[in-house]
Amino acid sequence: MFFLEKIVIRTAKKEDIKKIMDIEHDSFSKNVFESESVILNRLLVFPDGFLVLEYGNEIFGYISSELWEYSKKIDEKMFDLDHDITSLHKNSGNELYISSIGVLKKYRGKGYGKLLFLELIEQITKKYLLKSMILTVSVNWAAAINLYEKNGFKEVFRIKEFFEDENNSDGIVMRKYL
Ligand SMILES: CC(C)(COP(=O)(O)OP(=O)(O)OC[C@H]1O[C@@H](n2cnc3c(N)ncnc32)[C@H](O)[C@@H]1OP(=O)(O)O)[C@@H](O)C(=O)NCCC(=O)NCCS
Repeated sequence: MFFLEKIVIRTAKKEDIKKIMDIEHDSFSKNVFESESVILNRLLVFPDGFLVLEYGNEIFGYISSELWEYSKKIDEKMFDLDHDITSLHKNSGNELYISSIGVLKKYRGKGYGKLLFLELIEQITKKYLLKSMILTVSVNWAAAINLYEKNGFKEVFRIKEFFEDENNSDGIVMRKYL
């Protein structure tokens, strides 16, 4: 049992990478999870955009993001999994792209994912001037879709067979204007 006051949400450090990869592998299927080098680079390039949930020695959730230059027109290639953060991220960007979020299976459904998601948004909106936020989610990830919809994200388009999982599921691109 966790007690909320003992949970820390903090910026990820490079020493956390193995535990972050455990969450990645627990959260996504083989052809969907991203590589250690890409994830490590995200936390090195944009530490403000990469938070972990910690309880004692355990890291049980993470969220990663980038800052993009807002463009009304969206190119689906921007969302390619395993893309290098330096291809689109700029600290002066005004659209927050939430590249990933995961919570270890055994801790899901208890409010921690929402806590992490809202904390990242609060921290980033305090420090950077944002116009909007964007992300992509599989049509099959009901929990994530609910989390985003309840927090004001709306579908802008679908990328056909975006995920190379067993169903070749479509990706839903969702955006929220601030
Ligand atoms: C998405 C994820 C991070 C959410 O974390 P979580 O700790 O389980 O979520 P929370 O308990 O904070 O719930 C947040 C919201 O998600 C929704 N939700 C959570 N579990 C759900 C479920 N099993 N079915 C449907 N909706 C669910 C609810 O809308 C909930 O909000 P509410 O309690 O106000 O109704 C987690 O489920 C996860 O790691 N999933 C696998 C990886 C993934 O799909 N990542 C998304 C990448 S785009």
